[in-house]
Amino acid sequence: MRVLGIETSCDETAAAIVARDDAGHGEILSNVVRTQLEEHAAFGGVVPELAARAHVSHLDRIIARAASDAGLHLRDVDAIAATAGPGLIGGVLVGLTTAKALAAALGKPLLAVNHLEGHALTARLTDNIAFPYLMLLVSGGHTQFVLVRGVGDYERWGTTIDDALGEAFDKTAKLLGLGLPGGPEVERHALTGDPARFAFPKPLLREARLDFSFSGLKTAVRQAAEQLAPLSDTDVADICASFQATVATIVATRARDALARFRAELPDATPRLVVAGGVAANRAIGATLRDAAASAGAELVIPPPRLCTDNGAMIAWAGAERLALGATDPSSFGAKARWPLDSADMPITQRGDHAA
Ligand code: KG4
Ligand code: ZN
Repeated sequence: MRVLGIETSCDETAAAIVARDDAGHGEILSNVVRTQLEEHAAFGGVVPELAARAHVSHLDRIIARAASDAGLHLRDVDAIAATAGPGLIGGVLVGLTTAKALAAALGKPLLAVNHLEGHALTARLTDNIAFPYLMLLVSGGHTQFVLVRGVGDYERWGTTIDDALGEAFDKTAKLLGLGLPGGPEVERHALTGDPARFAFPKPLLREARLDFSFSGLKTAVRQAAEQLAPLSDTDVADICASFQATVATIVATRARDALARFRAELPDATPRLVVAGGVAANRAIGATLRDAAASAGAELVIPPPRLCTDNGAMIAWAGAERLALGATDPSSFGAKARWPLDSADMPITQRGDHAA
């Protein structure tokens, strides 16, 4: 089957066509992403209204490109999938409404996809891994451990009690006067910095829980920067390197704890950690996670960077996985600003519409 996927929940306008065979193997036929960096650059963050307007301006062309890159006409796809939440509601509405219109005009089923489910299932597209597995989702809006038992079957084991990890990267970048998106900028400056110069706090790490907290770290970074101002290039690099080393340690320690729980609760399953979301593109965090997984005797899967950050292929694939199980959604399905992954605990064919 072939599925068109549309993603408009934040500042990427994206569309892709993905194929899934009966054995569950996936193939990306096209994957078109337009980031809105220029629209938001002057404001130091994503402006929801501008994001929604940019999606309106570009989505039609992006979808047409996804079809032509795949060498297909839209009538050749078997279903239309779109992010229905969580995200910036104006943008979600643009993508979901477009998907509904296409589904109606082409007479194809609609799949209203949870964006987090897109991140959660990407590793099955890229690495064809079996359920169950442990997912660490680290994006601009979420930082959580989720046990992925099956399509639509998720159990959250831990989350952030304040900022998301991507948000902590973005705020650190903004504080240091670096550009957008913050994560890659901090990573780039960290390359030449001294990770041992600043001892930043690691909140919650001594507690026996799988949760995160990054707001105290953010304050410590701000205080260090204020004390040194004006900052030299070396100061900026050292702060970036120390911040990144701190969060890498936090994430790796928690990953070891989560893998220990996975082993204890699922003794018959292959221990496997999948990292998803934009921050999974960070090489330093990937390296410490690789060590953590190895010491826990677990396999580590990190999809390629362009599939870690928001894209249409992950939405198309989540749609294909659900369609393969017989799930489709009604055209009345409402866009949702908030939509936790583990509320999808009920069978995917009965998920229905909890309109926002
Ligand atoms: O998954 P994503 O593309 O969008 C959301 O659903 O949030 O994640 C975007 C987040 C941003 O906060 C961005 O700064 C962060 O991922 N990010 C990174 C890197 N690339 C993207 N953070 C650290 N290092 C990176 N290389
Ligand atoms: Zn995302």
